[in-house]
Amino acid sequence: MHISNLKIKNKVVTQINIYESDLTFHKHFNELLSNYSSIFILTQESLSDSIINNITMKNAPKIKSFILEDAEKCKSEKQLKEILNFLLINQCNKDSLIVGIGGGSVSDITGFVSSIYMRGIKHILIPTTLLGMVDASIGGKTAINYNNIRNLIGTIKHPDQVLIFLDYLDSLPKSEILNGFSEIIKYALIMDKELFEYIEKNKKNLYPEINKKKLKEIIIKCIIHKVDIVQQDEKDLGHRRILNFGHTAGHALESYLNFQISHGLGVLYGMKVAAKISLELNKITKKQYIRITNLIDSFNIQPLKKINIDKILDFMYYDKKSSHNKINYVILNDIGASTINNNIDVEIIKKGLSSL
Ligand code: GLY
Repeated sequence: MHISNLKIKNKVVTQINIYESDLTFHKHFNELLSNYSSIFILTQESLSDSIINNITMKNAPKIKSFILEDAEKCKSEKQLKEILNFLLINQCNKDSLIVGIGGGSVSDITGFVSSIYMRGIKHILIPTTLLGMVDASIGGKTAINYNNIRNLIGTIKHPDQVLIFLDYLDSLPKSEILNGFSEIIKYALIMDKELFEYIEKNKKNLYPEINKKKLKEIIIKCIIHKVDIVQQDEKDLGHRRILNFGHTAGHALESYLNFQISHGLGVLYGMKVAAKISLELNKITKKQYIRITNLIDSFNIQPLKKINIDKILDFMYYDKKSSHNKINYVILNDIGASTINNNIDVEIIKKGLSSL
């Protein structure tokens, strides 16, 4: 089922489709592959049986696959060089297609390689995580890590297509579902009150056990929001930054805790900090604040013990989202409405962090 087209300057750059049935997913995937002379698959999983078994005899000889290192490790300079060599040795050229199958890190590296090899090879993404489906695969952000700094080097290159196959949700660990939900709640808080209220009402039927039918509707809503934001600010110079809601404190906490917490958990804590700051600035009411924190806490979020606020603040100021030593903080004006403020008093940020 076709969900949306991402258009930049009135030109469709990405088509986004969602599939519930094996048959239609594999049919479309094979049709797509048949348009290219050679296909290069980048994935972290040894290609799942279902994809291998369903590649037609006509397409199979054109495919070469490269197994990426796990998680963020696939975004290293070393791995980049290995992929470029793999493409070169196997004669990847302008008529080829690069396919990334995996989570957010796979979208990042696949997009990056596709944007630099021969100044650009067509690529498509098949996100296998909930976070990838609602966020990372859409909007063209690509990246590798450099000098231990996450996503320092990157480009914007949109995948030609994003194919979302919902069956991938069945085998996701709970921590991955939580990562996805943190981004879903982010969309709800920054721009979709109805979605917030829906999750508030249906939370028990959505997590930790997933309901694919309900989740499909939520995924579609989030994709439509993401497309809308990226179309307004493709280059991340203004409005798109609202997608960083919860990420400023979230990333700082992840670094402070030596990445012992997941990205999703970091963002959930980060959204609590942002909600507290919004309350302190009288942008939301106490009642709204309580509703927000109750929803976040219902994902089993425990208070953090003994955190060093000053150290977390240091990480926040080092984050690349701060400009001129100011933190671009996304705050709420309401449940479902947000704004960017780069002039928040540090004492208020400290109060936000103390609420954890
Ligand atoms: N994941 C945030 C963005 O695409 O801008």
